[in-house]
Amino acid sequence: MEGDKRQEQLLGILLEAEGFISGEEISRRLGISRTAVWKRIRSLKEEGCAIESVSNKGYRLLSTSGALSTAEIQNRIPPESRFRDVRVYPTVDSTNGEAKRLAAQDRTWEGLVLSEEQTAGKGRRGRAWLSGQGEGIYMSFLLRPAILPQKAAMLTLVAGLAAARAIDSLGIGVGIKWPNDLVADGKKLCGILTEMTAEPDYVDLVVVGIGINCNQKAFPPDLGEKATSLALLGGADVDRNALAARVVEEFEPLYMEFQERGDLGFLLEEYNVRCVNNGARVQVLGEQTPLLGRGAGVDKDGSLLVDTDDGKRIAVQAGEVSV
Ligand code: BTN
Repeated sequence: MEGDKRQEQLLGILLEAEGFISGEEISRRLGISRTAVWKRIRSLKEEGCAIESVSNKGYRLLSTSGALSTAEIQNRIPPESRFRDVRVYPTVDSTNGEAKRLAAQDRTWEGLVLSEEQTAGKGRRGRAWLSGQGEGIYMSFLLRPAILPQKAAMLTLVAGLAAARAIDSLGIGVGIKWPNDLVADGKKLCGILTEMTAEPDYVDLVVVGIGINCNQKAFPPDLGEKATSLALLGGADVDRNALAARVVEEFEPLYMEFQERGDLGFLLEEYNVRCVNNGARVQVLGEQTPLLGRGAGVDKDGSLLVDTDDGKRIAVQAGEVSV
């Protein structure tokens, strides 16, 4: 474990250097011998990093392995971010579950959990989330927001907008299907699962779990028609570290503003432009079902407004849109 941590620190130093850095300087910073530095460089190369070594100059990172890495994500997040504590796992049951376990060990902890795979990835409404090794981004924010419990569901919309903006930065346009599916080409690209531990008037923690289909080249037959990935859409694998960091960068200011304002008024215009349900036929499955009509935007509380076939405008707070 200590070795893994040093390896991550070494990667962080190489990333930060953006050029050559001497073995002596690395050994000083890590507090290990030059031979130990050399061994760790060799391990990073074995893991797939391309590192140039030149005598009298030292080491230079040419490219990374593509594996998720704390150092690579942290390196791209502003130093003052509240999500600098990034935990990356090779495998977990669910990053949402792991985030909750970490929060139980330290009642003030806030941070980010990612994993290369999930053995029991969770979707909304008790469904499973396909979480194959190295294919997607499976990430969970552990938040301790100063909001009332009834407002927690709005964080899902905040995260959806952040993920949509992050994906846009790759040149791939995505729409939002209320409340929080990101879709492209009519297929699902990203899902969000928000869970909360709360008392009636007090939020202990909220976990916002985001799953983004990144490098999948195919999906099982039952999902094939419904799911897509960034690689399928853009024709090339994506750098999951860069994208995960971008999600953090987009999410944090929106999250802070949401806490301050207490509703979604400040992001509605952008959300509603992206919302694919606007003006479209909708059937809402949920508490107030069955509800058939036309989507008329989302309001500041995150409810979907539906102009129903029998001439009413209804604000749907929770549910699933099936059309
Ligand atoms: C959905 O659309 O049904 C929600 C899918 C949420 C999947 C993510 S992947 C990271 C986090 N961990 C989980 O177990 N689920 C969420």
